[in-house]
Amino acid sequence: MTARFEVEGRTPLRGTALVPGDKSISHRALLLAALAQDPSRLRNLSPGSDLLATRRLIEAMGAVVTDAGEAVTVEPRLTEGADALAVDCANSGTTMRLGAGVLSMFNRTSLLWGDASLSGRPMARVLEPLAAMGAKVWSVDGHAPVVVEGGELRGIDFTPGRPSAQVKSAILLAGLGADGDTTVREPVPTRAHTEEMLRAAGAPITTSEGRCTVRSGPLNGLELEVPGDPSAAAFWAVAASIVPDSEIVIEAIYRGPGRNCFVDVLVRMGADLDFVERAAELADLRVRHAPLTSTEITDPTEIAACVDELPVLAVAAACATGTTVIKGAQELRVKESDRLAAMTEGLQAFGAEIESAPDGLVIEGRGPSGLDRAVVHSRGDHRIAMALAVAALAASGRSRIQGWDSVDVSDPGFEQQLATLVAA
Ligand code: S3P
Repeated sequence: MTARFEVEGRTPLRGTALVPGDKSISHRALLLAALAQDPSRLRNLSPGSDLLATRRLIEAMGAVVTDAGEAVTVEPRLTEGADALAVDCANSGTTMRLGAGVLSMFNRTSLLWGDASLSGRPMARVLEPLAAMGAKVWSVDGHAPVVVEGGELRGIDFTPGRPSAQVKSAILLAGLGADGDTTVREPVPTRAHTEEMLRAAGAPITTSEGRCTVRSGPLNGLELEVPGDPSAAAFWAVAASIVPDSEIVIEAIYRGPGRNCFVDVLVRMGADLDFVERAAELADLRVRHAPLTSTEITDPTEIAACVDELPVLAVAAACATGTTVIKGAQELRVKESDRLAAMTEGLQAFGAEIESAPDGLVIEGRGPSGLDRAVVHSRGDHRIAMALAVAALAASGRSRIQGWDSVDVSDPGFEQQLATLVAA
């Protein structure tokens, strides 16, 4: 992947887009496969470098991971009680947070570290409840590197301080190795992949509205085809919505609960989008260019459900008419970059009228042809790089995105996919 990427603006997107396997589901598939009693066969795992971090983690736990044609097989061979374990989580918050939960089940010392971005992200939100379950934890003021020493956990009844699927998942996964029930309560729902996949693996889990309880118990191996990643699809959905004459179909994306909220927001803005169902929880998304109008994204449930799509929704807002307000999104300040600052800086460079607040953005839309070419920087954040590439598609002339190689984290095929969509 190149360090910079140049995008020719105002070229319509046409044809079919394929997105990589869902990143959240792929992380969980590898972790559950490593904990299962029998082998798993996983197809269409996310090709992003984040997944290599989770693969390193389960291999350090003893799992044998083999690339077998289109599938990856995982043979769980836990080497519990063995030497200390150390894993480079690179840029992957999901690896570090869910990994800390998994590793705290075991009576061994695990060191997790990451790159500069990951080392700046808050980890106390996971380490504190793990300590309450009986794990010994160390960190640098609540930041990586972190050390977890587990074993002899007891279940807790826990309500995270903020909506977070990563925190919920870390505690539920640790609960698989705890004595008694582990309950996580969620006043605001977040993506439910961990609960769904634990159930599919045969774990003793019960869920009711806003609550999930797990107990220790054996897990079965998984036979899984990972669906397309809706968060990757969101970039193409916004791009085709804002570039005149575009019409695309994004194939086979996950259609389960909690991940398609960006579609509701775009439809509310006037976008021409519809799902064509393929199978249970799998659909194609058809998108045609349409004039967009502003909206408000302020409901906490919607903010949590669109948390990864807010940067590219800000691009849609910049190309809409009217004032869009995003509020209650302070979590964006502690993602792979400060995404509120990164989008403000990036969209301003394209000539957009955008201001950031401590917890959100106010965007004065300039219509579909209001952006001008720019040279912008991803701040090393894959979603910022791709959101800015989408802005570049709507801008006049040729733009450049620096720090482009960060897209490898979730979608190394983005550039090639764009080439086919603009050539069709
Ligand atoms: C994720 C949950 C979200 C999301 C992240 C992936 C997951 O983070 O931003 O990209 O796989 O559980 P939070 O749960 O911290 O909001």
